[in-house]
Amino acid sequence: MSKRVVRAPVRDGMVDPTQPGISFAQPKGGQAKDKGTERQHSLAPAGVERAPTPTKQPAAKKAAPKPKAARKSAGKLPAAAAKRPAAESAKAAAKRPRQSASAGASAGSSREAYSTVVPPARQKRVAGKHFIVTGGTQGCGKCVALTLADEGAKGITICGRQDAKGRQVAAELERRGCRALFLKADLLSSDDCVRVVEEHERMFGVCDGLVHCAATTTRGTWKSVDEASADRDDFGGTDVELFDRVYALNVRAPFLLMQGVSKLMRQSGRGGSVVNIGSVHSAGGSPKLVAYATSKGALETMTKNFAFAHRNDRIRANYIACGWMYTDGVPQR
Ligand SMILES: NC(=O)c1ccc[n+]([C@@H]2O[C@H](COP(=O)([O-])OP(=O)(O)OC[C@H]3O[C@@H](n4cnc5c(N)ncnc54)[C@H](OP(=O)(O)O)[C@@H]3O)[C@@H](O)[C@H]2O)c1
Repeated sequence: MSKRVVRAPVRDGMVDPTQPGISFAQPKGGQAKDKGTERQHSLAPAGVERAPTPTKQPAAKKAAPKPKAARKSAGKLPAAAAKRPAAESAKAAAKRPRQSASAGASAGSSREAYSTVVPPARQKRVAGKHFIVTGGTQGCGKCVALTLADEGAKGITICGRQDAKGRQVAAELERRGCRALFLKADLLSSDDCVRVVEEHERMFGVCDGLVHCAATTTRGTWKSVDEASADRDDFGGTDVELFDRVYALNVRAPFLLMQGVSKLMRQSGRGGSVVNIGSVHSAGGSPKLVAYATSKGALETMTKNFAFAHRNDRIRANYIACGWMYTDGVPQR
């Protein structure tokens, strides 16, 4: 009997869950848990102790009996909440208009509909602040820039190689009341990395945050390119050119950007925040993504090093180990 092998599309080394026929088992009563994405990244500087892991305590002594009034009200909702039927409030929540921004022409396309819902408690957290977002021409970076604008950012610099898309996102940011600067820049060039920070400073004077999203995910195994092509490997090999290109964009570029923005953050005395968009691959990663996975590992270490170095400058840094995301970078099917 012949066996039909179905190859699931892979993005960032992970299976595309939106592909027909691909399903993930959900544990009863909740979302499937991805251990990789749940990993905690401690950015605590060396020497700072973590909170101890709670150990099982012996059973507490029998609690003292509650006063009569407390016993009576226990388990009861406040009058207003008790009156509200659960089904009705769920219905009302579904009807509530969502604050969303469709950044593309094709309405209804999940790829283009950038929903930037801002919960009330988080609104205006970044009001009056200025940011640099790399990779802001599309995908995750574009969504981050639009969300920052929705949360009240005063000025945002985005950069990338795609002129038309960059201008479009800049116009969208302006429409949301945020001053925008799009810089056509290729972050493979160290000069362009330095220029992005300089141009941002010229336009806005201060930098409160950097979100580094730009990256390349080019695949390649441990084989040489020649060996991989002789073996007709789907994922190709890794040569010096590929390795250097991935490291130039995924490691050297954020190094130069962080160096530049930390200077501005120290000068202003306001401190700031750096967020590096990483990948779960930094924990080891797929052997088909040797350069990519190891570059994200380097970025994670660099983030911690930076955070420790600037612990007294009111500058913090975080590395976000993302799992699969359905972004513009995902090949069209
Ligand atoms: N999507 C996923 O499943 C996934 C999973 C884990 C982690 N991540 C990470 O999330 C981040 C964003 O991914 P994404 O899916 O949003 O990617 P994407 O849609 O492919 O966008 C990549 C962005 O990087 C910019 N970029 C690429 N090369 C550049 C260069 N040489 N110079 C300047 N900018 C450059 C692109 O701008 P231009 O094309 O205009 O230059 C684009 O804005 C990346 O760091 C990626 O590693 C993604």
